[in-house]
Amino acid sequence: MHADLDRVLFREDEIARRLDTLASEITTDYMGKELTVLAILNGSLIFMADLLRRIPLPLELDCLRVRSYYDEMESSGQVSFDRSALPKLADRHVLLLDDILDSGQTLAAIVEAVREDVKPLSIRSCVLLRKIKTRARPIEADYVGFNIGDEFVVGYGLDYQERYRNLSVIGVLRKP
Ligand code: IMP
Ligand code: MG
Repeated sequence: MHADLDRVLFREDEIARRLDTLASEITTDYMGKELTVLAILNGSLIFMADLLRRIPLPLELDCLRVRSYYDEMESSGQVSFDRSALPKLADRHVLLLDDILDSGQTLAAIVEAVREDVKPLSIRSCVLLRKIKTRARPIEADYVGFNIGDEFVVGYGLDYQERYRNLSVIGVLRKP
């Protein structure tokens, strides 16, 4: 799998060090609050597991399975998830976790649905990676692991056609 990468952007130890800082910011901000983390699957699975074990708060965890349709390496803008599967969190502070903020369409659609249907005490978002670019939907995340250029990346949960999620590094996929 490593051989399919053009270059590695973040090694395991670099990701771990960044997660230490991110987790301590989140811990400070949500101290004493009723926090539910809503993780967007599948992409955030590995990020979620590593981040949450660094947050020593009595938080709760829910997951939402979301599909964003891709034509090769470009977002098609179609986001699909089961709105009726959103948990009841009206008395909780919600932190959305996603792997990457690209066009913004996934995060915007989920934030909108959660605000309308769930009406939590607050909603913020945390992404491991944020692409620096002009987004189709003008949304930003409240917590960001790393800023990257507008390139297609895989590993540490991120896939290309469902592969490479189990790579321990994050890297740019070699162009075919
Ligand atoms: P957005 O809706 O365009 O912001 O894209 C969000 C979703 O698209 C993410 O949750 C990822 O699943 C996927 N995605 C966007 N960019 C990449 C990438 O560079 N590599 C792998 N998946 C990506
Ligand atoms: Mg994907």
